[in-house]
Amino acid sequence: AVGHPVVTIDGPTASGKGTVASRVAAVLGFHLLDSGALYRLTALASARQGVAADDAESLAGIAATLDIRFTGNDVVLDGCDVSHEIRAEAIGLRASAIAVHGPVRNALFARQRAFREAPGLVADGRDMGTVIFPDARLKVFLTASVEARAARRLKQLSDKGFSANMDDLLKDLRERDARDTARTVAPLKPAADAFLLDTSEMSIETAVDAVIGWYRRSA
Ligand code: CDP
Ligand code: CDP
Repeated sequence: AVGHPVVTIDGPTASGKGTVASRVAAVLGFHLLDSGALYRLTALASARQGVAADDAESLAGIAATLDIRFTGNDVVLDGCDVSHEIRAEAIGLRASAIAVHGPVRNALFARQRAFREAPGLVADGRDMGTVIFPDARLKVFLTASVEARAARRLKQLSDKGFSANMDDLLKDLRERDARDTARTVAPLKPAADAFLLDTSEMSIETAVDAVIGWYRRSA
């Protein structure tokens, strides 16, 4: 596993990580790791089992034993397609609440590294460049204003049939940003050697081109 090239794309909620990562993976022909989905799946599975968001040891046990499959765009938990369910904003919020626990992050550590396979991997999340793949060939940190991100998330949620409004979303995003940035274990921050890209006024295509350009020059 070690040795295959990795591109990490980190950043806050709705900065465009997932979209940019999946397009970059398609261009390079690389595997894709949506690490946030692992935290969302742990959030969903633990909520179903009635486990409290502060019970770090039980949450870590669930994270370690999640029965999951990623097939194309589908995310399968215990044999059931939960791709839609895990995108609910309430699950994102619970994911950020359980992601503060060191034991939960440790339980997901090896699972994330296992995605590093030939010919390469594009991984998106919060700590891909800082903690999980510190030796990545290219590290990118996406940012965008909280207003731009809330507007994007509002459109994305309503396209998916979830009800959402701008005021609640702004509040949720600020709460998640604050918690993700302030936590002591693997906080959201750019790696020292990351390229920063503000996508507030940038199309997805332009962002993808920038990342591919950096990658080609990184060899
Ligand atoms: O993965 P993350 O939460 O960072 O964001 P995403 O799910 O990739 O993007 C959130 C939404 O913003 C998606 O609907 C993207 O199509 C949109 N987006 C955009 O309009 N312009 C960008 N430069 C990046 C993302
Ligand atoms: O798509 P969005 O950026 O809203 O969230 P996500 O990437 O699906 O992640 C959901 C939550 O999981 C985040 O708010 C983080 O607290 C946590 N997370 C994390 O701590 N580390 C990662 N590598 C990925 C996600």
